[in-house]
Amino acid sequence: MLNGNMKLAIQKKGRLTDKSLQLLRNCGLDIEDYSERLIISSRNFELDILFLRDDDIPEYVQDGVADIGIVGEDVIQEKKAKVELVRKLGYGRCNLALAIPENKNITKLSELNGQRIATSFPNLLNNFLQKNNINATAVEISGSVEIAPSLGVADLICDLVSTGNTLKMNKLKKSFDVFSSEAVLIATPNLSNDPVKQETLQNLLVRIDSALNAKSSKYLMMNAPRKALEEIERILPSLKSPTIVPLADENMVAVHAVIPSDKFWAIHKQLMDAGASGILLLPIENMIV
Ligand code: PRP
Ligand code: ZN
Repeated sequence: MLNGNMKLAIQKKGRLTDKSLQLLRNCGLDIEDYSERLIISSRNFELDILFLRDDDIPEYVQDGVADIGIVGEDVIQEKKAKVELVRKLGYGRCNLALAIPENKNITKLSELNGQRIATSFPNLLNNFLQKNNINATAVEISGSVEIAPSLGVADLICDLVSTGNTLKMNKLKKSFDVFSSEAVLIATPNLSNDPVKQETLQNLLVRIDSALNAKSSKYLMMNAPRKALEEIERILPSLKSPTIVPLADENMVAVHAVIPSDKFWAIHKQLMDAGASGILLLPIENMIV
C-alpha cells in the first residue's frame, strides 16, 4: 500500500492481537473490525495496521517493511533484531519456560543434562543452557511445540506460558523460567530520517502514554468532614494534590483525586475510618499528565 501512512505490524492471531487492537482503540483510533484481513487503515489517523505472524514482526520492522510494530520482547531477543525499543506496553506478560510431562519430575537444573528440549526459541534456550552449564539438545520446532513430548520428538519443551492453559491441555507442567517478557512497541532504526513518520510516531506516543497512564490510574471521589481533610490527604497516594470542592453543608467537602488503580483496596478502610463517605472509584479514559 503506497498511501504514505505509517505502517504498524501486530500479531495476526495470538495472545497479543486483541489487547494490541484494544490499546489502539483506547488511543482514539477508529479501526474497522479486522476479521481476516491482512491490512487495515485507521479512519482517523495516518496509520495502516499489518497483521503478521509474531515471529516475523522483528525482521519486518528491522527492514522497514513496517515502520513500527508491537511484539513480545521474547521474539525480539530471539531474532536478535536491530530495532529500537520505544515503549514497554505493560500487557502480554508471559514467561518463556521449560515444561515437562505432568507424570515426570525435574527439581534440579542438572537433571536437564542429556535431555532433548523442543522449542521455537533456540537462541534464548541455548543462552540459558550455557549460562547454567547444562548439556542438553535444543530441538527447533516452528509451531505447536507443546505436542513434541507426546510425539516422542523431545523430552520436554521450552515455550511461552501466559495463562498456563496450553500446558494444561497438553498434560505438561512448568518447571524453570528462562525469560520473562511483555509486549513492546518497536520502531525501525531509520524512522528518524522520515520527518513526517517521525511526527506521526510522536503523536501516537502521546496517545499511547495517555492510554497507559489512564489504565494504571483511577479517579477517586468521596465526601469527607472538612476537619478530616489533613488526615485524608495523608492517606491518599495521589499523583497530584487532590481537588477539594465545598458542599452545601459547610462542615463537609468533596475530595477528588487520581490514584494508582492497585492502591484503592489498601486505603479504602483507612479513608472510611477517617470519616470519608460516598466513596466512588471511576475508570479514566485518557490522562495527559
Ligand atoms: C504462545 C505459546 C502458547 C501460548 C501460551 O503462543 O506458543 O501457544 O502462547 O499461552 P497460555 O499459557 O495463555 O495458554 P503465541 O501467542 O506467541 O502464538 P504463536 O505460538 O503462534 O507464536
Ligand atoms: Zn509467538
